[in-house]
Amino acid sequence: MVPQGGNTGMVGGGVPLAGELVVSVRRLDAVGAVDRLAGQVTVGGGATLGAVRRAAADAGWAYGVDFAARDSCTVGGNVGTNAGGLRVLRYGDTRAQVLGVEAVLGTGLVVSHLGGLLKDNTGYALPALLCGSEGTLGVVTAVRLRLVPPSPHRVVALLGFASTAAAVTAAAELRRRLPVLSAAELMVQSGVALVCRTIGLPPPLAAPHPAYLLVEAAGEADPTGELAAAVDGLDGVAEVAVAEDSVRAAALWRYREAHTEAVNAVGTPHKMDVTLPAAALAEFVDRVPAEVAAVVPGARTWLFGHVADGNVHVNVTGLDPDDDRVDDAVLLLAAGYGGSISAEHGIGTAKRRWLHLNRSPAEIDAFRAVKRALDPDGILNPNVLLPAP
Ligand code: MLT
Ligand code: ZN
Repeated sequence: MVPQGGNTGMVGGGVPLAGELVVSVRRLDAVGAVDRLAGQVTVGGGATLGAVRRAAADAGWAYGVDFAARDSCTVGGNVGTNAGGLRVLRYGDTRAQVLGVEAVLGTGLVVSHLGGLLKDNTGYALPALLCGSEGTLGVVTAVRLRLVPPSPHRVVALLGFASTAAAVTAAAELRRRLPVLSAAELMVQSGVALVCRTIGLPPPLAAPHPAYLLVEAAGEADPTGELAAAVDGLDGVAEVAVAEDSVRAAALWRYREAHTEAVNAVGTPHKMDVTLPAAALAEFVDRVPAEVAAVVPGARTWLFGHVADGNVHVNVTGLDPDDDRVDDAVLLLAAGYGGSISAEHGIGTAKRRWLHLNRSPAEIDAFRAVKRALDPDGILNPNVLLPAP
């Protein structure tokens, strides 16, 4: 059986391929009362990320995870993939928010540990294990989440740079100098131009630039002055646009968030989601288009990502669906730099055959032992994550 939440995953982790039964958790969509004293909430595995974010805000708190699929994806799915998104640099990934999980294991046993104790060193951390397990160990039916203080004042800026390296260096500087930094997203000119053409947006800055950073600062007080001072001290900024009101901020975010939609309009992309060590990030981004074109001339490469996490989304259009030569080249390149072949989308069915690039035989043996213990009959997502034996 294939556990499924909002079915917004990128690697086929919630998609039956061989006649499996889909077990949807979407009706488990209750969002409990926010525990205002603890700053926590218990939600059903089928609650959408957006519903959790709204409930937290209504109670004077906030939830630290956010990304474009917020109103379709479910928290159970977020746990399954250990979803990342736009604010990992500030609050961490889904695993960092999860204090407890209720799940039905492959054995049929229900494990439930939803007390929300912040300090609880009483053995193996099953919630942490279930985060990123992609439905292979259990069906996540409820989750206890930690909330974060709200940051009601938000300012967004778009910075243009002459090179990817300058943008990557600037992002690192902003992280160091600007504690209220809440997002730093990398885009390149080809992707921004595609978004403008596809969505019908004007160019975001007066001139085109090889690389862009979309940065957001958010805090208890208005962070505009702090952001301006930090940006003033950066090297290599060619042009800046600042959005001080929420309408303009949303308009700047649109250039980043519409990338997926714009790329899909070109054709069904092959999607690679990699992490690079910080020192290799700019070189990787600059090399990938030529590496792709060398394998399949005429293929187009679209790059964007969460730069502070070292996470680049490599989307390639113009490939046959089953031709994975480009996937192979890109994932080998990332692994060769010491990077990960899946930053935040997971392994699913799509990336199984490359798991060995990041995980040793001993690690994969340990994964199989965990799988056997919690799902001895192999009934949960049998074609996901672990390589075929
Ligand atoms: C994003 O950051 O926009 C998502 O991970 C989606 C994608 O890679 O298309
Ligand atoms: Zn992403």
